[in-house]
Amino acid sequence: MTTFMPRMFEGRTALITGGGSGIGQRIAERLAQQGASVALVGRSQSRLDSAAQGIIAAGGKAAGFAADVRDYDALARATGAAHEMFGALGIVLCGAAGNFPALASSMSANAFKSVIDIDLLGTFNTCRAAFEHLERPGASIVTISAPQAVQAMVMQSHVCAAKAGVDMITRTLALEWGPLGVRVNGVLPGAVADTEGMDRLAPPGPVREALAKQLPLRRIATKDDIADTVIFLCSDAAKYITGAIIPCDGGMTTAGMAIQTPSKSARPVQGTPVN
Ligand code: COA
Repeated sequence: MTTFMPRMFEGRTALITGGGSGIGQRIAERLAQQGASVALVGRSQSRLDSAAQGIIAAGGKAAGFAADVRDYDALARATGAAHEMFGALGIVLCGAAGNFPALASSMSANAFKSVIDIDLLGTFNTCRAAFEHLERPGASIVTISAPQAVQAMVMQSHVCAAKAGVDMITRTLALEWGPLGVRVNGVLPGAVADTEGMDRLAPPGPVREALAKQLPLRRIATKDDIADTVIFLCSDAAKYITGAIIPCDGGMTTAGMAIQTPSKSARPVQGTPVN
């Protein structure tokens, strides 16, 4: 990893749920590269510690605070500890998410609830717990949406419902917290390479290659594409933007495209199809 040079977020604190892996980890690295002290929140302390060590080794400031975003009290403790260690939160990224492909007919009520609890309740819990520790005015909250928020997808009823709700939390909090000087926006990543979510929905191979060829920008996103959008939203360049859900999806949602999840990755259908 390159040595970090403190830049636009010097002196700020960023809290990132899901910061121990995937897109959240990359966003944390990029915010640290810009000078932010980053508080990584996730379920596994060892995974958070490993991600934090990578940032520290590159010259950044980071620490891990274990909490499951479904557990408000644990999250409240984590946000409080992050505030105490690094100072009031100037940036909050709600990145924790869960997903698996499953037809509604083969999904238990608890399976549906698991994703609603991680994505939707987890986003509310993060914003609510962080509210007590935000820089006011000045803080920027970024939520993570998905194409499923605006595009129905087979085997994704749980994620479609959760992410549509995430977008409405984003827009509602923008209304409620704008007068306090807190901006709340969302990023809508499309298909992103080297992520657990994408590997579950469209593993590397022909399905993913066909998707990339059909996207208006003709490629899958990198994690840095998503981090760039988050950095923009948290920067002064976006100081008059709130309540926006910015697609960073290569044109996927504009084209009305859905990821075609291969059926072999899902549990079998319950009931008899009519055709
Ligand atoms: N198809 C159908 N149901 C599934 C499933 C699948 N592929 N995977 C899990 N479930 C069900 C389980 O059977 C369980 O339901 P049950 O109690 O009725 O049996 C329910 O979902 C919860 O599973 P569990 O493994 O106990 O939940 P968890 O809290 O440990 O994990 C998940 C949450 C299910 C979302 C898990 O996939 C996860 O931890 N994901 C995090 C990583 C991730 O998804 N990253 C991609 C982000 S986009």
